[in-house]
Amino acid sequence: MKSVLASTILGIGHHVPSKVVTNNDLAKLMTTSDEWIVQRSGIKERRYIEHSGIGASDLALPASKMALEHAGITAKDVDAIIFATLSPDHNFPGSGCFLGDKLGLPGVPALDVRNQCSGFLYGLSVADAWVRAGVYEHVLLVGAEVHSTGIELNDRGRDVAVLFGDGAGAAIIGAAKEPGQGLKALEIHADGSGAKELWLEAPASAYDPRLTKEMIDEGKHFPAMNGKQVFRWATEKMPEVARSVMDAAKVTAADIDLFVPHQANLRINQFVGQKLGIPESKTVTNIEKYGNTTAATIPLGLSEAWREGRCKRGSNVLFAAFGSGFTWGAAVITL
Ligand SMILES: CC(C)(COP(=O)(O)OP(=O)(O)OC[C@H]1O[C@@H](n2cnc3c(N)ncnc32)[C@H](O)[C@@H]1OP(=O)(O)O)[C@@H](O)C(=O)NCCC(=O)NCCS
Repeated sequence: MKSVLASTILGIGHHVPSKVVTNNDLAKLMTTSDEWIVQRSGIKERRYIEHSGIGASDLALPASKMALEHAGITAKDVDAIIFATLSPDHNFPGSGCFLGDKLGLPGVPALDVRNQCSGFLYGLSVADAWVRAGVYEHVLLVGAEVHSTGIELNDRGRDVAVLFGDGAGAAIIGAAKEPGQGLKALEIHADGSGAKELWLEAPASAYDPRLTKEMIDEGKHFPAMNGKQVFRWATEKMPEVARSVMDAAKVTAADIDLFVPHQANLRINQFVGQKLGIPESKTVTNIEKYGNTTAATIPLGLSEAWREGRCKRGSNVLFAAFGSGFTWGAAVITL
C-alpha cells in the first residue's frame, strides 16, 4: 500500500447502555445530593450497564457497527483495531482482541491503549501514522468504558463514584478523500509525577501478592483521586495544548467549527472554552447525560454532534483531553 497525505475520520459511532442512573439514585447509596453533583461537575445522570457480563468490548460493538455504516464500509474492510480503555473486559488479553472476535475479524491486529481520558487521542496518533504510512487502510479506533462495576458506590468512594459512567465511541480512520481534509495537528503528552493523583492501585504487579483481603478492605481496588490537583492540572494543560495544536494547524478560535473536549467536568470545559475564546455554542457538552466516560467521551461527543448536524464534512474540529497519568493531548482535524 502506498502512503497517503492525510488521514481523517471516515465514520463515527457511539453506544450507551440503557440504564439511566440519576444523581438522586446515587443519593440513595451514599451521602450526596443532586445539587452538590450538578454544582461541582454539571452531571445530572449517567448510564450503567444493565447487568453483569457486559464488558467494554460489548459496548464497543454497536458503536463500531455504527461507525462502519457511517463510513460506508463493512467489518471486513477493517485492517486494524485500536481499543482505548482503562476498564478492559478482563486484565488480559486486551479488549481489542475481544472486539475483533465479536466483529468476526480473525487475524486482524488489535492494539489496546491504556491512556485513560487521553486514550482516544493517543489512539488517533497511532491510527494516523499507520494510515499515512500506508501500513493500514482502515483503522477502527474505539474508546469504551464500563466504570459502573469498578467504582465504590458508598460514602468512602463518593468523590469519584458520582463522576463516572459507562459508554463507547468508535471512529473509522482512513485516507482523507479531498484536499484540505484530514488531521492537521495532534499532540500528546504525559507526566508520571502525577501518576498517583488519579489511579487504581491494585491488583498490582508491583505487589506480591497482587491483591490481598487487606487491600480490598482498604478499597485499593477502587480508583482514588486528588480532585483538586486534577482540576488544577486540567485547567492549565488543556488550554495550553489546544493552543499549541491550533498554532501548528494555523487556525484561530474563529476557524474552529466545533470543540469536542473530554467530558470530565463542566466547570473545566467552561474554563478551557473561555481561555481559548471558543463559545459554548460551538462546544460539545453531554456530561449532564453521561458523566465522564473516560476514553469514550470524545468519539461519543463527536458522534452525537455529527448526527445533530453540528458538524459535517469540511468542518474544523478541535479535540482536547486531560486525565490520569497524567496524560493530555489535543488535535485539530478537518472532517
Ligand atoms: C471532584 C471535584 C468535583 C470536587 O470538587 P471540589 O470543588 O474540589 O470539592 P469541594 O472542595 O467543593 O468539596 C469537597 C467536600 O465535598 C465532599 N464530597 C466529596 N464527594 C462528594 C459527593 N459526591 N457528594 C457530596 N459531598 C462530597 C468531600 O468529602 C469534601 O468534604 P469536606 O470539605 O468536609 O472535606 C473537583 O475537584 C473536580 O472536578 N476535579 C477534577 C476531577 C476530574 O476531572 N476527574 C477526572 C479526570 S479525567
